[in-house]
Amino acid sequence: MNIIFLIGMPFAGKTYWAKKLSENYRVPYVDMDDMIEKAQGKTVSEIFETDGEANFRLLEHQLLATIIDSYQRPLIVSCGGGTPVFYDNMQLMNNAGCTVFLDAGIATLVDHFEQKEDTNERPLLASVSDIHGELQLLFEKRKNIYKQAHYILHSEQISITNFDKIFSLCISSR
Ligand code: S3P
Repeated sequence: MNIIFLIGMPFAGKTYWAKKLSENYRVPYVDMDDMIEKAQGKTVSEIFETDGEANFRLLEHQLLATIIDSYQRPLIVSCGGGTPVFYDNMQLMNNAGCTVFLDAGIATLVDHFEQKEDTNERPLLASVSDIHGELQLLFEKRKNIYKQAHYILHSEQISITNFDKIFSLCISSR
């Protein structure tokens, strides 16, 4: 058994699916943003504000290395939206387990953004006037890295049935 990393844009549903998969397969999950917030005693927004994004990215990278080196398997990891994009994180994850890109599509991301109350918890998207344009821009910058994932699920394919296949493949082959 191994690690499954859920990656994708903010509001793609990584944490939602990590919890759901964790319940369904009775496999523990961790949420990287939550872990960083707990360890630092600050929200992600506060870390961006007081320590800067570069420091957040370093904490994120160090946490990823710790999870890979010392956490018990099997494990589901809900990554931050930017996790794959910094350092050699994408390669680290691809070598350590299975990566699944939840490719939700910009319209779905915007829908989720509009339904959330805690949008300030995303410092990169706080006080943005054109959320659709901003998400599109961010996605354009990141898509080539996200697409290096072992598995890509588009909006309409994100379901337990499709995860069943991924789980059995990841568990038996890695
Ligand atoms: C970020 C996404 C956030 C969080 C931080 C940076 C990003 O996580 O890690 O605000 O760079 O896309 P979510 O994807 O869970 O929103």
